[in-house]
Amino acid sequence: MEKNNNFINSEVSIETKTNPIIILKNVLKEYIIGDWIVRAVDHVNLSIFESEFVTIVGPSGAGKTSLLNLIGGLDSVDEGEIYNFGIKITDMSEESLALFRIFNIGFIFQNYNLISTLTAEENVIFPMMLAGMTLEERRDRASKLLEEMRLEERKEHLPFQLSAGEQQRVAIARALGNDPPIIIADEPTANLDMETAEFIAKLFKKLKESKKTLIVATHDKALIKHADRIITYKDSKIIKQDIIHDILKDNKNFK
Ligand SMILES: Nc1ncnc2c1ncn2[C@@H]1O[C@H](COP(=O)(O)OP(=O)(O)OP(=O)(O)O)[C@@H](O)[C@H]1O
Ligand SMILES: [Mg+2]
Repeated sequence: MEKNNNFINSEVSIETKTNPIIILKNVLKEYIIGDWIVRAVDHVNLSIFESEFVTIVGPSGAGKTSLLNLIGGLDSVDEGEIYNFGIKITDMSEESLALFRIFNIGFIFQNYNLISTLTAEENVIFPMMLAGMTLEERRDRASKLLEEMRLEERKEHLPFQLSAGEQQRVAIARALGNDPPIIIADEPTANLDMETAEFIAKLFKKLKESKKTLIVATHDKALIKHADRIITYKDSKIIKQDIIHDILKDNKNFK
């Protein structure tokens, strides 16, 4: 396999990785509200490799959510190009992109984003319906995922009848519904109790072992300790990238 030396890193370079499956080239995203322009992503270049666990850290308002939304094709760029699996998603129509997302990307949002009128089970099943799974497959898979999330007794609950931690676990089950190769998570353990946060950190470790590509905005050390790379994002730019194993060598806090 070809070595990739395009990855530019302020601290170290990854020379042993295979080709990236996500590439951002000179990506710009601005929000215009009246006379105000907020630059959330300022000409960012980034490569993410297959089965890599990348965490993104940085202050509030830095643009982490904006960056994740662009990587996952939930929002459109103002300039630049994004490739997922070699496909230029920044050129895709909304319909094609929606279909691409259903099969390839599982999203976990900070505020869960469950559909309020659907039960836990229906929320998990919804993306599977879009992917064309049969009723039996959907029920079977939803049951297994909800069981894995320790929610088998909450299937019939509506989101408002679930605790924050339970809602996030439903959202994770939904994200895994179509077994996507890429999981994007935006502060998945923020606002959760320690036990649920630990449960989710262990789950991400398992997802890593199952070779998923994981891109997670987080400040949670329990999650960061499983990551391959930490990207520090500030003022709408990547300012630093570290390979966690190097940090492990140098920094006792991450042990
Ligand atoms: N839809 C929007 N319209 C206008 N401005 C926005 C929009 N979304 C984000 N912004 C602005 O873009 C900047 C980056 O926001 P973003 O949510 O990406 O930051 P963040 O790093 O995820 O912050 P946090 O850690 O608080 O979640 C902020 O200044 C925010 O006010
Ligand atoms: Mg955010």
